[in-house]
Amino acid sequence: MRRLLIAGNWKMNMNLSSAKSLAEELKKETQGITTIDVAACPPFVYLTAVTEILAGSKVGVGAQNGYFEKEGAFTGEVSMGMIREIGCQYVILGHSERRHVLHESSEEVNLKTHAALAQGLTPIVCVGELLAEREAGVTDAVIRRQFDGSFSGLTAEQMKKTVIAYEPVWAIGTGKVATPEQAEEVHVGIRNLITERYGKEVADIVRIQYGGSVKAENAKEILGKPNVDGALVGGASLKIAPFMGIIQAAD
Ligand code: 13P
Repeated sequence: MRRLLIAGNWKMNMNLSSAKSLAEELKKETQGITTIDVAACPPFVYLTAVTEILAGSKVGVGAQNGYFEKEGAFTGEVSMGMIREIGCQYVILGHSERRHVLHESSEEVNLKTHAALAQGLTPIVCVGELLAEREAGVTDAVIRRQFDGSFSGLTAEQMKKTVIAYEPVWAIGTGKVATPEQAEEVHVGIRNLITERYGKEVADIVRIQYGGSVKAENAKEILGKPNVDGALVGGASLKIAPFMGIIQAAD
């Protein structure tokens, strides 16, 4: 049985005070959670404050990106070692906003995935098609290309330590959630890709989250699908009540 992972991607939201308050509320409200994993992914500048508050709680902390080089003259970048050092367990990589707004390639995501694993971080690697790609019937090909590019060169042991987030770009921040059937279909396709490359044992272990307009109201139905192993939540993770609604649906 794969343990569900509900992760909140705060994106470029919050301020120091609201980030700390939400972390305090999360710590308190998740005390009774035992059957699932929960994580919060604040902007870089709030990571230290949030990891301090959530240390010893049920909630892990992740960064929203990280650079693949260990150190050096890379102005504006933050290394995986730095992220690990301050107490994070996770790092989101290749989010569609990074792929499409900041033109990040699967090759870069691959380097970052290797770097994250080398530092003992769990990479949450995002894949997902654009609306035009879905309408053109090329969703499978897009996911395969992103999967092959992002996970190239990983050993089976490394693959087991990754989390994949399927986020159809047309469902992100639009209120247009994929149907549970649409999500399950792509999740099965991703699990088949893992089986092809690494065998069934690895494929059965890797968690595949769904992301895109997940809310307390639709969480149960989506998370009820056998190959949906959690959610990567944007908007609904910024306030305690909607995020706890999703956590409780998962638990
Ligand atoms: P929303 O939940 O706001 O649609 O965002 C999804 C997402 O991009 C999470 O990474």
